[in-house]
Amino acid sequence: MTGVTLNQTIKRYGQTQVIHGIDLEIEDGEFCVFVGPSGCGKSTLLRMIAGLEETTEGQIYIGAREVTHQDPAKRGVAMVFQTYALYPHMTVAENMGFGLRMNGVAKAEIDRKVQEASGILKLDQYLKRKPKALSGGQRQRVAIGRAIVRGPEVFLFDEPLSNLDAELRVEMRVEIARLHNEIGATMIYVTHDQVEAMTMADKIVVLRDGRIEQVGAPMDLYRDPDNKFVAGFIGSPAMNFLDCDIVDGQVTHPAITQPLPVPASVPLGLSRVTLGIRPEHIQVDRSGDTCTVDLTEALGGVSYSYLLTSNGDKLIVEEREDERSKQGTRIGISIRPERTMLFDPETGLRLR
Ligand SMILES: Nc1ncnc2c1ncn2[C@@H]1O[C@H](COP(=O)(O)OP(=O)(O)OP(=O)(O)O)[C@@H](O)[C@H]1O
Ligand SMILES: [Mg+2]
Repeated sequence: MTGVTLNQTIKRYGQTQVIHGIDLEIEDGEFCVFVGPSGCGKSTLLRMIAGLEETTEGQIYIGAREVTHQDPAKRGVAMVFQTYALYPHMTVAENMGFGLRMNGVAKAEIDRKVQEASGILKLDQYLKRKPKALSGGQRQRVAIGRAIVRGPEVFLFDEPLSNLDAELRVEMRVEIARLHNEIGATMIYVTHDQVEAMTMADKIVVLRDGRIEQVGAPMDLYRDPDNKFVAGFIGSPAMNFLDCDIVDGQVTHPAITQPLPVPASVPLGLSRVTLGIRPEHIQVDRSGDTCTVDLTEALGGVSYSYLLTSNGDKLIVEEREDERSKQGTRIGISIRPERTMLFDPETGLRLR
Protein backbone atom coordinates (compact mmCIF):
# COMPACT_ATOMS: atom_id res chain seq x y z
CA MET A 1 0.00 0.00 0.00
CA THR A 2 1.08 3.51 -0.72
CA GLY A 3 0.40 7.17 -0.25
CA VAL A 4 0.16 9.88 -2.90
CA THR A 5 2.36 12.95 -3.17
CA LEU A 6 1.77 16.00 -5.35
CA ASN A 7 4.66 18.35 -5.86
CA GLN A 8 3.94 21.77 -7.37
CA THR A 9 1.45 20.27 -9.80
CA ILE A 10 0.06 22.60 -12.43
CA LYS A 11 -2.63 22.04 -15.04
CA ARG A 12 -3.16 24.29 -18.02
CA TYR A 13 -5.66 23.91 -20.83
CA GLY A 14 -4.00 26.01 -23.53
CA GLN A 15 -3.61 29.45 -21.95
CA THR A 16 -6.01 28.75 -19.09
CA GLN A 17 -4.42 27.57 -15.89
CA VAL A 18 -6.83 25.68 -13.66
CA ILE A 19 -4.49 24.05 -11.09
CA HIS A 20 -1.93 26.44 -9.64
CA GLY A 21 0.99 24.57 -8.15
CA ILE A 22 -0.53 22.15 -5.65
CA ASP A 23 1.60 20.51 -2.96
CA LEU A 24 -0.12 17.70 -1.11
CA GLU A 25 0.86 14.66 0.91
CA ILE A 26 -1.71 11.87 1.28
CA GLU A 27 -0.59 9.17 3.68
CA ASP A 28 -0.65 5.44 3.08
CA GLY A 29 -4.13 4.14 3.92
CA GLU A 30 -5.59 7.58 4.43
CA PHE A 31 -9.12 8.58 3.42
CA CYS A 32 -8.64 11.99 1.85
CA VAL A 33 -11.61 14.10 0.71
CA PHE A 34 -11.43 16.96 -1.81
CA VAL A 35 -14.11 19.63 -1.37
CA GLY A 36 -14.61 23.07 -2.88
CA PRO A 37 -17.05 25.02 -5.03
CA SER A 38 -18.01 23.84 -8.50
CA GLY A 39 -15.19 24.46 -10.97
CA CYS A 40 -12.42 24.71 -8.34
CA GLY A 41 -10.49 21.79 -9.86
CA LYS A 42 -11.44 18.74 -7.76
CA SER A 43 -12.10 16.43 -10.71
CA THR A 44 -9.13 17.76 -12.65
CA LEU A 45 -6.78 17.03 -9.76
CA LEU A 46 -8.22 13.54 -9.30
CA ARG A 47 -7.92 12.83 -13.02
CA MET A 48 -4.31 14.03 -12.97
CA ILE A 49 -3.58 11.50 -10.22
CA ALA A 50 -5.37 8.82 -12.26
CA GLY A 51 -3.44 9.77 -15.38
CA LEU A 52 -6.62 10.66 -17.29
CA GLU A 53 -5.39 14.27 -17.57
CA GLU A 54 -1.87 15.18 -18.52
CA THR A 55 -0.03 17.09 -15.77
CA THR A 56 1.40 20.28 -17.27
CA GLU A 57 4.09 20.89 -14.63
CA GLY A 58 5.21 19.37 -11.34
CA GLN A 59 5.35 15.76 -10.20
CA ILE A 60 2.97 13.11 -8.92
CA TYR A 61 4.22 10.17 -6.84
CA ILE A 62 2.38 7.02 -5.83
CA GLY A 63 4.43 5.67 -2.97
CA ALA A 64 8.04 6.24 -3.99
CA ARG A 65 7.30 5.86 -7.73
CA GLU A 66 7.01 8.93 -9.88
CA VAL A 67 3.96 8.44 -12.13
CA THR A 68 3.57 11.96 -13.56
CA HIS A 69 3.58 10.89 -17.20
CA GLN A 70 2.90 7.20 -16.73
CA ASP A 71 0.10 5.32 -18.47
CA PRO A 72 -3.08 5.25 -16.27
CA ALA A 73 -3.22 1.44 -16.37
CA LYS A 74 0.27 1.18 -14.87
CA ARG A 75 -0.29 3.50 -11.92
CA GLY A 76 -2.01 1.04 -9.60
CA VAL A 77 -5.07 3.26 -9.23
CA ALA A 78 -8.74 2.58 -9.89
CA MET A 79 -11.34 5.28 -10.32
CA VAL A 80 -15.07 5.24 -9.59
CA PHE A 81 -17.13 7.91 -11.34
CA GLN A 82 -20.47 9.56 -10.68
CA THR A 83 -21.99 7.70 -13.63
CA TYR A 84 -21.43 3.98 -13.29
CA ALA A 85 -20.68 3.33 -16.98
CA LEU A 86 -21.43 -0.40 -16.78
CA TYR A 87 -21.66 -2.51 -19.93
CA PRO A 88 -25.42 -3.13 -20.34
CA HIS A 89 -25.04 -6.47 -22.18
CA MET A 90 -22.74 -7.98 -19.53
CA THR A 91 -23.76 -9.50 -16.21
CA VAL A 92 -22.60 -8.05 -12.91
CA ALA A 93 -19.83 -10.67 -12.70
CA GLU A 94 -18.70 -9.98 -16.27
CA ASN A 95 -18.72 -6.24 -15.68
CA MET A 96 -16.60 -6.64 -12.57
CA GLY A 97 -14.12 -8.99 -14.22
CA PHE A 98 -13.91 -7.22 -17.58
CA GLY A 99 -10.73 -5.24 -16.87
CA LEU A 100 -8.92 -8.35 -15.66
CA ARG A 101 -10.08 -10.34 -18.70
CA MET A 102 -8.70 -7.62 -21.00
CA ASN A 103 -5.38 -7.93 -19.17
CA GLY A 104 -5.31 -11.67 -19.88
CA VAL A 105 -5.84 -12.81 -16.30
CA ALA A 106 -6.86 -16.49 -16.06
CA LYS A 107 -10.57 -17.22 -15.65
CA ALA A 108 -10.19 -19.00 -12.30
CA GLU A 109 -8.31 -16.02 -10.91
CA ILE A 110 -10.95 -13.58 -12.20
CA ASP A 111 -13.73 -15.69 -10.63
CA ARG A 112 -11.93 -15.74 -7.31
CA LYS A 113 -11.46 -11.95 -7.28
CA VAL A 114 -15.05 -11.28 -8.36
CA GLN A 115 -16.28 -13.60 -5.58
CA GLU A 116 -14.15 -11.81 -3.04
CA ALA A 117 -15.28 -8.31 -4.13
CA SER A 118 -18.93 -9.29 -4.33
CA GLY A 119 -18.66 -10.68 -0.81
CA ILE A 120 -17.34 -7.36 0.48
CA LEU A 121 -20.05 -5.44 -1.38
CA LYS A 122 -22.89 -7.91 -0.70
CA LEU A 123 -23.47 -8.43 -4.41
CA ASP A 124 -23.29 -12.26 -4.37
CA GLN A 125 -26.95 -12.77 -5.24
CA TYR A 126 -26.81 -10.34 -8.18
CA LEU A 127 -23.78 -11.70 -10.03
CA LYS A 128 -25.82 -13.12 -12.91
CA ARG A 129 -28.04 -10.08 -13.39
CA LYS A 130 -27.63 -7.40 -16.03
CA PRO A 131 -27.21 -3.77 -14.88
CA LYS A 132 -30.72 -2.78 -15.98
CA ALA A 133 -32.14 -5.15 -13.37
CA LEU A 134 -30.32 -3.36 -10.53
CA SER A 135 -31.09 -0.29 -8.44
CA GLY A 136 -28.86 2.79 -8.62
CA GLY A 137 -27.11 1.86 -5.40
CA GLN A 138 -26.50 -1.71 -6.60
CA ARG A 139 -25.08 -0.41 -9.89
CA GLN A 140 -22.71 1.87 -8.04
CA ARG A 141 -21.65 -1.09 -5.92
CA VAL A 142 -20.82 -2.96 -9.12
CA ALA A 143 -18.73 0.01 -10.27
CA ILE A 144 -16.89 -0.06 -6.93
CA GLY A 145 -16.51 -3.84 -7.28
CA ARG A 146 -14.92 -3.34 -10.68
CA ALA A 147 -12.35 -1.11 -8.96
CA ILE A 148 -11.76 -3.58 -6.10
CA VAL A 149 -11.03 -6.59 -8.34
CA ARG A 150 -8.16 -4.71 -9.90
CA GLY A 151 -6.50 -4.61 -6.47
CA PRO A 152 -5.39 -0.98 -6.75
CA GLU A 153 -3.08 0.67 -4.28
CA VAL A 154 -5.12 3.86 -4.51
CA PHE A 155 -8.89 4.26 -5.02
CA LEU A 156 -10.13 7.47 -6.60
CA PHE A 157 -13.82 8.42 -6.26
CA ASP A 158 -15.38 11.36 -8.10
CA GLU A 159 -18.74 12.11 -6.45
CA PRO A 160 -19.74 8.44 -6.59
CA LEU A 161 -22.97 8.87 -4.66
CA SER A 162 -24.41 12.04 -6.14
CA ASN A 163 -26.83 10.20 -8.44
CA LEU A 164 -28.39 8.30 -5.56
CA ASP A 165 -31.36 9.32 -3.47
CA ALA A 166 -30.81 10.55 0.07
CA GLU A 167 -31.44 7.24 1.84
CA LEU A 168 -29.18 5.24 -0.47
CA ARG A 169 -26.46 7.85 -0.15
CA VAL A 170 -26.36 7.34 3.59
CA GLU A 171 -26.26 3.56 3.14
CA MET A 172 -23.48 3.70 0.54
CA ARG A 173 -21.53 6.25 2.58
CA VAL A 174 -21.41 3.78 5.44
CA GLU A 175 -20.47 0.97 3.04
CA ILE A 176 -17.59 2.89 1.52
CA ALA A 177 -16.32 3.77 5.00
CA ARG A 178 -16.53 0.07 5.90
CA LEU A 179 -14.75 -0.88 2.69
CA HIS A 180 -11.95 1.50 3.62
CA ASN A 181 -11.65 -0.06 7.06
CA GLU A 182 -11.69 -3.54 5.58
CA ILE A 183 -9.12 -3.18 2.80
CA GLY A 184 -7.16 -0.25 4.22
CA ALA A 185 -6.18 1.17 0.81
CA THR A 186 -5.47 4.84 0.26
CA MET A 187 -8.65 6.54 -0.95
CA ILE A 188 -9.19 9.96 -2.47
CA TYR A 189 -12.80 11.04 -2.61
CA VAL A 190 -14.38 14.09 -4.22
CA THR A 191 -17.73 15.25 -2.89
CA HIS A 192 -20.08 18.21 -2.60
CA ASP A 193 -21.70 16.69 0.43
CA GLN A 194 -20.73 18.23 3.78
CA VAL A 195 -21.78 15.19 5.75
CA GLU A 196 -19.78 12.81 3.54
CA ALA A 197 -16.71 15.01 3.87
CA MET A 198 -17.03 15.40 7.64
CA THR A 199 -17.82 11.77 8.42
CA MET A 200 -15.65 9.86 5.96
CA ALA A 201 -12.44 11.87 5.82
CA ASP A 202 -9.27 11.39 7.79
CA LYS A 203 -8.18 14.53 6.01
CA ILE A 204 -10.12 17.17 4.07
CA VAL A 205 -8.50 19.27 1.36
CA VAL A 206 -10.43 22.50 0.73
CA LEU A 207 -9.83 23.78 -2.80
CA ARG A 208 -10.71 27.11 -4.34
CA ASP A 209 -9.86 28.29 -7.85
CA GLY A 210 -7.21 25.61 -8.31
CA ARG A 211 -5.43 26.31 -5.03
CA ILE A 212 -5.49 24.68 -1.61
CA GLU A 213 -7.10 26.87 1.03
CA GLN A 214 -6.49 24.49 3.94
CA VAL A 215 -5.80 20.83 4.69
CA GLY A 216 -6.75 19.19 7.95
CA ALA A 217 -8.82 16.71 9.92
CA PRO A 218 -12.56 17.49 9.61
CA MET A 219 -13.03 18.77 13.15
CA ASP A 220 -9.83 20.82 12.97
CA LEU A 221 -11.13 22.63 9.89
CA TYR A 222 -14.48 23.12 11.58
CA ARG A 223 -13.09 24.42 14.86
CA ASP A 224 -10.00 26.19 13.66
CA PRO A 225 -10.26 27.45 10.05
CA ASP A 226 -7.37 29.54 8.72
CA ASN A 227 -9.54 31.92 6.75
CA LYS A 228 -13.06 33.12 6.07
CA PHE A 229 -13.44 30.91 3.00
CA VAL A 230 -12.81 27.66 4.90
CA ALA A 231 -14.86 28.91 7.86
CA GLY A 232 -17.78 29.54 5.52
CA PHE A 233 -17.37 26.38 3.48
CA ILE A 234 -17.12 23.78 6.25
CA GLY A 235 -20.32 23.50 8.28
CA SER A 236 -23.97 23.53 7.28
CA PRO A 237 -25.76 25.88 7.59
CA ALA A 238 -22.70 28.02 7.02
CA MET A 239 -21.03 30.23 9.60
CA ASN A 240 -22.54 33.72 9.94
CA PHE A 241 -20.34 36.69 9.11
CA LEU A 242 -20.93 40.22 10.39
CA ASP A 243 -18.95 43.26 9.32
CA CYS A 244 -18.12 45.04 12.56
CA ASP A 245 -16.53 48.34 13.49
CA ILE A 246 -13.83 48.62 16.08
CA VAL A 247 -14.73 51.41 18.48
CA ASP A 248 -12.86 52.12 21.73
CA GLY A 249 -11.33 48.66 21.84
CA GLN A 250 -14.66 46.91 21.29
CA VAL A 251 -15.96 44.90 18.34
CA THR A 252 -19.27 46.59 17.63
CA HIS A 253 -22.32 45.69 15.58
CA PRO A 254 -25.97 46.76 16.01
CA ALA A 255 -27.01 43.19 16.85
CA ILE A 256 -24.31 42.65 19.46
CA THR A 257 -25.30 44.20 22.75
CA GLN A 258 -22.82 42.65 25.15
CA PRO A 259 -19.17 43.81 25.35
CA LEU A 260 -16.85 42.10 22.89
CA PRO A 261 -13.33 43.33 23.57
CA VAL A 262 -10.94 43.37 20.63
CA PRO A 263 -8.46 40.53 21.20
CA ALA A 264 -4.72 41.07 21.01
CA SER A 265 -4.63 39.24 17.67
CA VAL A 266 -6.24 42.20 15.90
CA PRO A 267 -3.58 44.54 14.52
CA LEU A 268 -3.55 48.04 15.98
CA GLY A 269 -5.14 50.61 13.73
CA LEU A 270 -7.62 48.22 12.10
CA SER A 271 -11.00 49.94 12.13
CA ARG A 272 -13.15 47.11 10.77
CA VAL A 273 -13.18 43.40 11.30
CA THR A 274 -15.33 40.49 10.09
CA LEU A 275 -16.83 38.50 12.94
CA GLY A 276 -17.71 34.84 12.34
CA ILE A 277 -20.14 32.86 14.49
CA ARG A 278 -21.78 29.51 13.82
CA PRO A 279 -25.59 29.16 13.93
CA GLU A 280 -25.31 26.69 16.82
CA HIS A 281 -23.28 29.16 18.89
CA ILE A 282 -25.83 31.98 19.00
CA GLN A 283 -28.33 32.12 21.87
CA VAL A 284 -31.66 33.79 21.37
CA ASP A 285 -32.52 36.49 23.89
CA ARG A 286 -36.32 36.81 23.98
CA SER A 287 -36.15 40.10 25.89
CA GLY A 288 -34.00 41.74 23.21
CA ASP A 289 -35.19 43.47 20.05
CA THR A 290 -32.15 43.94 17.80
CA CYS A 291 -33.26 41.42 15.14
CA THR A 292 -36.40 40.51 13.22
CA VAL A 293 -37.23 36.85 12.68
CA ASP A 294 -37.60 36.73 8.90
CA LEU A 295 -38.25 33.02 8.48
CA THR A 296 -38.04 29.80 10.44
CA GLU A 297 -37.38 26.26 9.23
CA ALA A 298 -38.29 23.28 11.38
CA LEU A 299 -36.11 20.24 10.71
CA GLY A 300 -37.37 18.00 13.47
CA GLY A 301 -35.05 18.06 16.45
CA VAL A 302 -33.65 21.47 15.59
CA SER A 303 -34.91 24.48 13.71
CA TYR A 304 -33.19 27.37 11.99
CA SER A 305 -34.31 30.94 12.33
CA TYR A 306 -33.27 33.46 9.70
CA LEU A 307 -32.79 36.84 11.34
CA LEU A 308 -32.41 40.33 9.92
CA THR A 309 -30.43 42.75 12.04
CA SER A 310 -31.45 46.43 12.25
CA ASN A 311 -28.79 47.36 9.69
CA GLY A 312 -29.96 44.67 7.25
CA ASP A 313 -27.38 41.95 7.94
CA LYS A 314 -28.54 38.34 7.84
CA LEU A 315 -27.98 35.76 10.57
CA ILE A 316 -28.97 32.12 10.90
CA VAL A 317 -29.56 30.81 14.40
CA GLU A 318 -30.01 27.20 15.42
CA GLU A 319 -32.70 26.63 18.02
CA ARG A 320 -34.24 23.61 19.64
CA GLU A 321 -37.45 22.78 17.87
CA ASP A 322 -39.56 23.26 21.00
CA GLU A 323 -38.10 26.75 21.53
CA ARG A 324 -38.40 27.99 17.98
CA SER A 325 -38.77 31.76 17.50
CA LYS A 326 -41.93 33.05 15.86
CA GLN A 327 -41.77 34.49 12.39
CA GLY A 328 -42.17 38.28 12.35
CA THR A 329 -41.29 38.79 16.03
CA ARG A 330 -38.34 40.76 17.32
CA ILE A 331 -35.62 39.12 19.40
CA GLY A 332 -32.11 39.76 20.59
CA ILE A 333 -29.08 37.52 20.40
CA SER A 334 -26.26 36.76 22.74
CA ILE A 335 -22.91 35.32 21.78
CA ARG A 336 -19.97 34.21 23.86
CA PRO A 337 -16.67 35.87 22.85
CA GLU A 338 -14.83 32.52 22.88
CA ARG A 339 -17.24 31.17 20.23
CA THR A 340 -16.48 33.98 17.78
CA MET A 341 -13.76 34.13 15.15
CA LEU A 342 -12.35 37.30 13.65
CA PHE A 343 -11.15 37.74 10.09
CA ASP A 344 -9.29 40.49 8.29
CA PRO A 345 -11.98 42.11 6.10
CA GLU A 346 -9.49 42.68 3.28
CA THR A 347 -7.62 39.37 3.08
CA GLY A 348 -10.16 37.06 4.77
CA LEU A 349 -7.33 35.68 6.92
CA ARG A 350 -8.16 34.62 10.43
CA LEU A 351 -6.95 36.98 13.15
CA ARG A 352 -5.74 34.74 15.98
N1 LIG B 1 -10.92 20.71 -21.31
C1 LIG B 1 -10.94 21.85 -20.63
N2 LIG B 1 -10.56 23.02 -21.17
C2 LIG B 1 -10.57 24.18 -20.47
N3 LIG B 1 -10.96 24.27 -19.19
C3 LIG B 1 -11.35 23.14 -18.59
C4 LIG B 1 -11.37 21.87 -19.25
N4 LIG B 1 -11.80 20.95 -18.37
C5 LIG B 1 -12.05 21.61 -17.22
N5 LIG B 1 -11.78 22.92 -17.34
C6 LIG B 1 -11.92 23.96 -16.29
O1 LIG B 1 -11.16 23.57 -15.18
C7 LIG B 1 -11.77 24.03 -13.98
C8 LIG B 1 -11.84 22.88 -12.99
O2 LIG B 1 -12.79 21.94 -13.45
P1 LIG B 1 -13.15 20.65 -12.62
O3 LIG B 1 -14.01 19.79 -13.46
O4 LIG B 1 -11.90 20.05 -12.10
O5 LIG B 1 -13.97 21.28 -11.42
P2 LIG B 1 -14.69 20.54 -10.21
O6 LIG B 1 -14.11 21.14 -8.96
O7 LIG B 1 -14.61 19.08 -10.36
O8 LIG B 1 -16.19 21.06 -10.37
P3 LIG B 1 -17.58 20.29 -10.08
O9 LIG B 1 -17.77 20.38 -8.61
O10 LIG B 1 -18.57 21.13 -10.81
O11 LIG B 1 -17.47 18.89 -10.59
C9 LIG B 1 -13.12 24.60 -14.38
O12 LIG B 1 -13.04 26.00 -14.34
C10 LIG B 1 -13.32 24.08 -15.79
O13 LIG B 1 -14.06 25.01 -16.53
MG1 LIG C 1 -16.03 17.58 -10.70
